[in-house]
Amino acid sequence: ASAGPDTMRSHACRLVRPPPGSPGRPLVHFGSPDVTNTTTLLLSGDGDTLYVGARDSVLALDVSRDDAISLTHRLDWSPSEKDLEQCGLVSFQADCPNFIRVLQFLNSSHLYACGTFAFSPRCSYIVCSTDSTTLMSLKSEEGRGRCPYDPYQRNTAITVDGELYTGTVADYRGNRPVISRHLGEGSRVDLKLDDSLGWLEDPTFIGSTFIPDEEKIYFFFSEVGREYDFIEKFIVSRVSQICTSDVGGQRTLQKRWTTFAKAQLLCQADGELPYNLIQDIDNLPPAEGAAADDTLFYGVFTSQWSVNSGRSAVCSFSLADIRAVFSGNYKVLNRDSLQWSTRVQEKVANPGECGLHNASDNALRFVKENFLADDSVRPAARGLTLVSTEQNYSKVVVQRVQAANLRLYTVLFLLSDSGFLHKTVLLQDGVHIIEEVQVFESPQPTSSLKLSVPKATVYVGTSDGVVKLPTANCSFYWTCAQCVLARDPFCAWDPAGRECVRVSGVQTALRQDVDGGNVEEACLSASLTLRTRSGPGELVSVSLNEVVRLHCPAMSRLSRQLWERPNSRLSADLYLRLEDGGLMFVATPATLGHYLCRSAENGYQQTMAIYLVRQKSSPVAQTPTSFSWFTRRLVPTQTVAEPGPGPRLLSSEGVVPHQADVKQGHAGPTPSTRGNQGTPRQPQRNLSLWTDGEPLLAPRGPCYLKELVVVSVLLVLCFSVLVTLVLYVVRLRVRTRTAPLGGSAGRDTDRRTPVDQEALSGNKVSSRRNGQVVHGAHGRESACNGTLSGSNGHLPNIPI
Ligand SMILES: *[C@@H]1O[C@H](CO)[C@@H](O)[C@H](O)[C@H]1NC(C)=O
Ligand SMILES: *[C@@H]1O[C@H](CO)[C@@H](O)[C@H](O)[C@H]1NC(C)=O
Ligand SMILES: *[C@@H]1O[C@H](CO)[C@@H](O)[C@H](O)[C@H]1NC(C)=O
Ligand SMILES: *[C@@H]1O[C@H](CO)[C@@H](O)[C@H](O)[C@H]1NC(C)=O
Repeated sequence: ASAGPDTMRSHACRLVRPPPGSPGRPLVHFGSPDVTNTTTLLLSGDGDTLYVGARDSVLALDVSRDDAISLTHRLDWSPSEKDLEQCGLVSFQADCPNFIRVLQFLNSSHLYACGTFAFSPRCSYIVCSTDSTTLMSLKSEEGRGRCPYDPYQRNTAITVDGELYTGTVADYRGNRPVISRHLGEGSRVDLKLDDSLGWLEDPTFIGSTFIPDEEKIYFFFSEVGREYDFIEKFIVSRVSQICTSDVGGQRTLQKRWTTFAKAQLLCQADGELPYNLIQDIDNLPPAEGAAADDTLFYGVFTSQWSVNSGRSAVCSFSLADIRAVFSGNYKVLNRDSLQWSTRVQEKVANPGECGLHNASDNALRFVKENFLADDSVRPAARGLTLVSTEQNYSKVVVQRVQAANLRLYTVLFLLSDSGFLHKTVLLQDGVHIIEEVQVFESPQPTSSLKLSVPKATVYVGTSDGVVKLPTANCSFYWTCAQCVLARDPFCAWDPAGRECVRVSGVQTALRQDVDGGNVEEACLSASLTLRTRSGPGELVSVSLNEVVRLHCPAMSRLSRQLWERPNSRLSADLYLRLEDGGLMFVATPATLGHYLCRSAENGYQQTMAIYLVRQKSSPVAQTPTSFSWFTRRLVPTQTVAEPGPGPRLLSSEGVVPHQADVKQGHAGPTPSTRGNQGTPRQPQRNLSLWTDGEPLLAPRGPCYLKELVVVSVLLVLCFSVLVTLVLYVVRLRVRTRTAPLGGSAGRDTDRRTPVDQEALSGNKVSSRRNGQVVHGAHGRESACNGTLSGSNGHLPNIPI
């Protein structure tokens, strides 16, 4: 599970699932208008109940069903009107409710919860055993030092053996940070940090973990790094430790930790600014049979500096490295100058060592003053696990997954500020983001992420409710190629059942290749059509000189689209490849014909679409009837086949071309009307005219030439008719002086139909029509559309 510094920046996401609410991606959501700020999550041991600390309430949700989350119990717990009124005088009214920020199991029958309670934190025991029919609050007590006052202040809490360990601020202003233990019985006194020496420097608490093997609790936070006194307000991330066996000193360090020590966590690549702000951390227990030292902590970090704003990094730290740093040397604080130095000193005691409560005052004074480890904890595998330049990750959960080949893979679920959950697998040669799911739409001030390994479910808590989604939905991949290309260790192709299934146990028959994603090797089965070629494809009717745009659906975000034409190259002069993988060109006789688009990913190619671009029927076409009939028949198919926006998954079966009886250059009588949903046919219906740039004229275009001649002839004829008319009028005027007026003009106008009407509409022009001179005074308006005389196209008495 390591990544070299060169390859770790692969952060393109393979698949983007449609946003919540769309049919392809059902997210199971719990929300209700009177339940908000559902951000403190606690899973029951069996994984069937999710306890939620919300605003003014604690909920028990039944999450055992796949398709729904239901509310089983609700305990309301809000400050009194008077408390709220007083709180509102000094704080924002919106921050005054009781935001539940601590929710932990005390024992099998009781929960312990603490809330901000109108800036006056309170805690309560809650009966939660399965046989009780309701959540019931027993006694409530002061929560100072266990829960923050301000709901926007971060805190951490964990219970071990019925005792509560917390990291929070213990005053209204947020100036007194403390790591403390509560609820001890008998000789187990409550402990806290000695605050005379500044063991913590304005910390932001992130998380805490109990390591049973060591009987230690590790706290993770960021704080001002006083040892870097040459940089003002330089924030560092820390890991600190205490022993659960600690009971404080006898005289020195009475009721104070004797086992507190802290060290810097470094998430930094060589020669780059560190990602110094820890945002979240999760621990990955060692694989079965491995030593506790192999425990890994995966942390999400962001940076204090604006050059790295919007970026985030993931680093992993091993327990072995943390232990080594804590058992090494410690920095020395100069009491007068308040400066840290690394002066080598005689060790009177080992700071951070458990069992110092009976130690001498001298030893305890030593550990009291030496609590900052000299060394920093560096990332396991000597590098950052992942850097994202696009996502501001803020939450992480991690799981080890056994693939079909029995190898173990580390899967990270990373949640960004803006609501994107990335499922990521760590591979030898880098990081592969399997998919992206949008779990909420508006950015959230606080959110939480919880993983249930036994239930294979991820929970996301936000201000608006709780969302649950399976760690994998293998049926989403519906071909062997898709299943293998996903490189999802949870999923493998079952050739017998012909479906992508969840891997469980040893199943050697399953096809999977998490490391390589090699489809050709993994999917060697008859059912898979690796390449689909030939066939006429989708018909696209265009006029010459129109701009044609062909669409090529992508297999995934990592795929590349390729275009091919039979027996010819696609030269860059004629074809424009679009960013979305499409192809654009001007329709000329040279560019008519077949086009094939393929999507290539990881060495595997799949035909996504085949098009036949041909010319629309023109009035002079030799076979107008059959062609227009063909186009008409195709219209409904095109409407059905239009795919929606966004990437679509297509099976190789789905893109087998339909069998229209069309041959290039000749329209057959039985076109296809298949509207297969899976077929990625997107005919070009919005063909726009070529306006900018020069239209490409066909060098050998017979049709085009014919039209040109016709137009020229028409022009000449119009001119001729005009001249004829003028002459005629002149003659008429001359004649009116000698002869009486006749009514012939009106009759002549009527005689113009139907041939002239047809000519007016401009549909049909025959150059071989017999000469006919338009008579009448109104002839001028119809003159240009009018009639011709002389088969040679000239008026006989007008020289050209
Ligand atoms: C759990 O803790 C509560 C509160 O301390 C106590 O009253 C109860 O007896 C305990 N239950 C068990 C089963 O230990
Ligand atoms: C500490 O010392 C006292 C007497 O000196 C002894 O009774 C007690 O057991 C010791 N505690 C531990 C944990 O060793
Ligand atoms: C509580 O939720 C509301 C939205 O429902 C949000 O505006 C507010 O910031 C949340 N408060 C805290 C403390 O997270
Ligand atoms: C899994 O994916 C399939 C196919 O997209 C979908 O029909 C099913 O509802 C999904 N199941 C869950 C639990 O998301």
